[in-house]
Amino acid sequence: MEEALMRAVVVYESMFGNTRLVAETIAEALSGEMEVRLVRATSNVDVGLKDVDLLVVGSPTHAWGLPRPATRRGGPGYVRKPGSGLALEPGADSSPGVREWLATVGDFHMCGAAFDTRINKSAALTGRASRSIARSLQRHGIAMAVPPESFRVDRKNHLLAGEIDRARAWAVRLGAAVLSQGTTRR
Ligand SMILES: Cc1cc2nc3c(=O)[nH]c(=O)nc-3n(C[C@H](O)[C@H](O)[C@H](O)COP(=O)(O)O)c2cc1C
Repeated sequence: MEEALMRAVVVYESMFGNTRLVAETIAEALSGEMEVRLVRATSNVDVGLKDVDLLVVGSPTHAWGLPRPATRRGGPGYVRKPGSGLALEPGADSSPGVREWLATVGDFHMCGAAFDTRINKSAALTGRASRSIARSLQRHGIAMAVPPESFRVDRKNHLLAGEIDRARAWAVRLGAAVLSQGTTRR
């Protein structure tokens, strides 16, 4: 009998599109091996985590951690700066995101992984949203398949060259780690 394809969900938040691009890359890389859904986080989206083997969650780093309403309201100011080259993701300055969505997630037995985007400096200076995401997932009973990962932007909030390739490689490693464990669905 043919084995059922594993199922993954990639949930993300993004202000200027960088984290969305990373999330799309991860989803595409995983889709070689699994059935994958890509979902933008809002607190009222019902992601449907039943029968999911792998949950990947990613967000930009704001004020050393996960975006919150006050930091999101700062987004349009960055876009308006002359020559910013930035565009706001629709509703990103006013919608809830990963922080609020994580608060609605129940307890699940599955594999998880966390990523963020952040400025290209030491994590001690920048903070890392992926740490908060990983901690939250673990509190929900989700086991981290690989350590949290950061993808870097420059000081003008544009992804650095090579980060999309690094995201693809991270997703391939993640997929292999989850497949080697077999299905964890209960
Ligand atoms: C209000 C605000 C606060 C930020 N705070 C931090 C921070 O504390 N550390 C950091 O590394 N980057 C910080 N950044 C940069 C973001 O991490 C960067 O804009 C993000 O990774 C880009 O991803 P996105 O295009 O998906 O929003 C901040 C950006 C904004 C808009």
